[in-house]
Amino acid sequence: MRFDVLTLFPEMVRAPLSASIVGRAQAAGAVTVDVHDVREHGIGRHRTVDDTPYGGGSGMVMRCDVVANALRAVQAAHGAGTVVLFEPSGRRFDQRAAERFATLDHVILVCGHYEGVDARFAESLGEGVEVISIGDYVLTGGEYAAMVFIDAVSRLLPGVLGNAESSRVESFAEGRGLEFPQYTRPREWEGREVPDVLLSGNHAKIDAWRDERSADRTAAVRPDLVMPRKG
Ligand code: ADE
Repeated sequence: MRFDVLTLFPEMVRAPLSASIVGRAQAAGAVTVDVHDVREHGIGRHRTVDDTPYGGGSGMVMRCDVVANALRAVQAAHGAGTVVLFEPSGRRFDQRAAERFATLDHVILVCGHYEGVDARFAESLGEGVEVISIGDYVLTGGEYAAMVFIDAVSRLLPGVLGNAESSRVESFAEGRGLEFPQYTRPREWEGREVPDVLLSGNHAKIDAWRDERSADRTAAVRPDLVMPRKG
């Protein structure tokens, strides 16, 4: 799968994505991440990319012409792709959305910065852009959102996670709510024991215990998540 990231801060995105599992996925060729500097399409000698908002108010707004030219350059080189724009006012990103995006071949991620991108950019793309938020809080820019997006989508692609890493995939996906608690060695730590059932070797019992813990945790912490009981 190919990800093109359009940003004013390429180094913010490149380094983190070259580490760990996504870095390995890139090295293995399962994922390609190409980061593009929007400033290359800036206006004039100073490569201006933003300006003050019409109507007043604080902060700067990224120019729609600059962002559109950056997008068109990437599309001319690599194809139309599916365009995603990160804004706090976008549709909420969740596991279901990650699964949907993981079926695509090519996503172009546009990171707004400052007060975001002039609204005419998204308007001009109409149905051709998905505006996405990663949560109900305001970030300094879409770069963090793009990294979250690439991580969550990449780990769903075939061959990206080894078996040892793949058990979390279904946590939200099956509407199962939150994960059950996990334990590893040592068996006893500062007077705290690993629950007996996990040492029993009885997998039916272990599964039942985990389902129960999962349901308890979801009810306590995230009652808003639907949690159909198994069986
Ligand atoms: N840019 C600023 N805040 C954001 C958020 N919560 N999600 C996506 N992009 C953003």
